[in-house]
Amino acid sequence: MSVSPHPQRPVEDSSSGKMPKHVAFIMDGNGRWATARGLPRTEGHRQGLETLRSIIRHAGKVGVEIITIYSFSSENWNRPATEVSFLMGLLKRFVQRDLSELHEANVRIRIIGGRSDLDPGILSLLEEAEELTRRNSGLELVVAFNYGSRAEILRAAQHLAQRVQDGDIRLEEITEEAFSQSLDTGGLPDPDLIIRTSGELRLSNFLLWQAAYSEFYFCDLNWPDFDEAAFDEALSCFGNRQRRYGGLDAKAL
Ligand code: IPE
Ligand code: IPE
Ligand code: MG
Repeated sequence: MSVSPHPQRPVEDSSSGKMPKHVAFIMDGNGRWATARGLPRTEGHRQGLETLRSIIRHAGKVGVEIITIYSFSSENWNRPATEVSFLMGLLKRFVQRDLSELHEANVRIRIIGGRSDLDPGILSLLEEAEELTRRNSGLELVVAFNYGSRAEILRAAQHLAQRVQDGDIRLEEITEEAFSQSLDTGGLPDPDLIIRTSGELRLSNFLLWQAAYSEFYFCDLNWPDFDEAAFDEALSCFGNRQRRYGGLDAKAL
């Protein structure tokens, strides 16, 4: 059997000692943060939004180019209706209050996740945010909303299968590259670094395809306590990682 090297991935790490280009956040622990203080869980979500604002600012300052935030999963609908409706309200307020400021700061917003079953009011707000900022060239803020990675992968598979059935493409044209492009994240580079707060050690259906060679950073702080210093620590930890993509370090050759 002859095995050829993968044509698309560099064997040698190009990011070691450097800033990650794309950082994805699983912003977890809002509820526990609030409960530990005798507050309702919703207070944790409110405080978590403050953290998000400071992390967006900091990402731009330190030169991260893309951040993806897991804001609401396709499974989060299983929470009590009161919490779900609070989270929807928070998202609306975030877009209404912060959109013009983000636009002025040249932030480009992109939404990933299922759209077909969304409340029309929320959908139009999200689309407005994308449309307004479409031509911005600064930090790219990817908001994973009603997002589930398995559903995203299924949508991509169905889309490509449909194109084969319609005679638009041949079966052999379903390559890794074509598949990546058909995901909601099509056109974005894979995340270099995925940070999850609150001590949980799982992906919870986040970027399963895209995380193939991501570096992971798990942090015990709950999201409302995650600050610029904690972000810097994650970035510096990333800078010391050696990414090999299945190959070998230059030193070992
Ligand atoms: C993350 O915090 C925010 C969302 C999932 C929307 P959680 O609400 O999951 O907080 P914990 O994990 O229950 O503490
Ligand atoms: C993942 O957190 C989703 C978001 C952060 C939006 P969850 O709190 O929903 O994940 P599980 O249930 O602990 O796996
Ligand atoms: Mg949680």
